[in-house]
Amino acid sequence: MRLWFLLGAVFVFCVKSHPVDLVPSENNEVPLVYRSLCGFVDLPGEEGDRWTREKPQDEGSSERKILKLRGFAVVIRHGDRSSLFNTHDNEGCRSHDPKSHKNFTILKQLFESTDFRNYISVDDVMKDYIYFPEEYKCVLGEMTAEGILQIANLGKKFYNYYKDTPLFTDKSHALHVMASASPWNRTLQTARSFVSQFLYPMKDYVPRVHVQSSNLSYQCFEQECYCPISNEMRYKFEDERGEYFELHAEPSLIAEAHEIKKTFAPFSKCHHPLAFVDIALGNFVCRMKPLPCKDGFCVTFPFLLKMLNLVSTHTLEMWNKDVGLVRRLQAIETYAILNYLNQAVEKSQRDKDYKFVRIYSSHDSVIGPLLRAMGLSVVDPCSYGARLVFEVYEHPSDGLFVRVLYNGEDMTRKVDFCQNKKHWTRHGLCSVEAFSDYVHKVLFQQANVRNVKEACYM
Ligand SMILES: *[C@@H]1O[C@H](CO)[C@@H](O)[C@H](O)[C@H]1NC(C)=O
Ligand SMILES: *[C@@H]1O[C@H](CO)[C@@H](O)[C@H](O)[C@H]1NC(C)=O
Ligand SMILES: *[C@@H]1O[C@H](CO)[C@@H](O)[C@H](O)[C@H]1NC(C)=O
Repeated sequence: MRLWFLLGAVFVFCVKSHPVDLVPSENNEVPLVYRSLCGFVDLPGEEGDRWTREKPQDEGSSERKILKLRGFAVVIRHGDRSSLFNTHDNEGCRSHDPKSHKNFTILKQLFESTDFRNYISVDDVMKDYIYFPEEYKCVLGEMTAEGILQIANLGKKFYNYYKDTPLFTDKSHALHVMASASPWNRTLQTARSFVSQFLYPMKDYVPRVHVQSSNLSYQCFEQECYCPISNEMRYKFEDERGEYFELHAEPSLIAEAHEIKKTFAPFSKCHHPLAFVDIALGNFVCRMKPLPCKDGFCVTFPFLLKMLNLVSTHTLEMWNKDVGLVRRLQAIETYAILNYLNQAVEKSQRDKDYKFVRIYSSHDSVIGPLLRAMGLSVVDPCSYGARLVFEVYEHPSDGLFVRVLYNGEDMTRKVDFCQNKKHWTRHGLCSVEAFSDYVHKVLFQQANVRNVKEACYM
């Protein structure tokens, strides 16, 4: 099976975005960016509507108090997992902190309880999926104990960020919850773990959650967003990117990569910088093991930082080269989620009692393109448990607005498509007009097509 598309990620939508500068550390200490890829770094948590009451020093703050949260969508990358190649370790995947071993057992018991199983249901095709990770064993491509706890933690945070917002405090109107996961154990486990700590504690007034199965990574449930050959398009892109590396990287880096493949079995199947990053994370860095050495020859962080940088740089160069496969695939892989959000916005406009929460349990290969679509410079791949949130607010006279947050940080002012016209940014938010214009026009124009069907060819 071709596993590459699961990793994906390297999608660059916006010519303006550029790779984040990665500075190698002096010694062999794990650089911050690699620790954050594992999800080991504490992130801000600006989600929710607290900001409408805080920051009184800001201009326009009195206006903000009347903003009302109507709903939000969150795209989550699954938690820490084993690498997609060469995973042979029967005990290395236990969670790191001994204090959390007990939490693993508690969470597992919750998942097994009748009450929780009655609260959350899944599509039939996912009925036989493995519902919980192994406690010790590393399994190829599967989430680890650490991973499911990361997501549980994230769910707990979301509970705290949102429990006091009108979505949950105003009980006179039903909250519409929609959750979906791509067809892998790790994404279903992620959806369940997140829901178990976020919505399940409010089960007395939040309706039962059903997790829909999306047959592709990008969470499309209709013909309009469906491209039956998108996987093949991705394989082709990945092959091209592998070739691009061999043709364009510094010769000394290519030589070092080849030497590493020959010397260290876990890296033997790596065809592209992203594979080196994935193996390094899954077999060493996130397992808190030192990078491998043999007869004085070592895999080093300066090497891994260069490889990480090339993941973004090469895709950007391929994007800039011509209007081709890269751009069409990007439109395909982001349209579904953006369009569903746009539909939720329209529904909120028509029906003033409508309020929603949408949870998409997905991959770096979807979050990466979405971020770049918005012109946000990011490290690609994103970290395990990374989250992208779109909140929708209502202003009593000015209508609806969107707020964008990545890993708990408010990015609204940096989002490209809000900046094109002056009136598109107000109250610290992005107008839904700008958002809709982007989803229906700009996204496809960039690829010189009008819709997913037109983008869907090799
Ligand atoms: C374990 O769970 C408790 C209770 O939810 C929490 O307070 C604690 O932070 C968790 N510990 C770890 C190490 O995750
Ligand atoms: C889920 O995990 C089991 C056991 O590791 C594996 O056999 C199965 O193929 C996995 N299913 C999916 C959909 O990933
Ligand atoms: C995948 O999902 C799309 C959208 O719901 C649907 O049209 C298509 O038939 C599905 N494909 C397969 C192979 O199930």
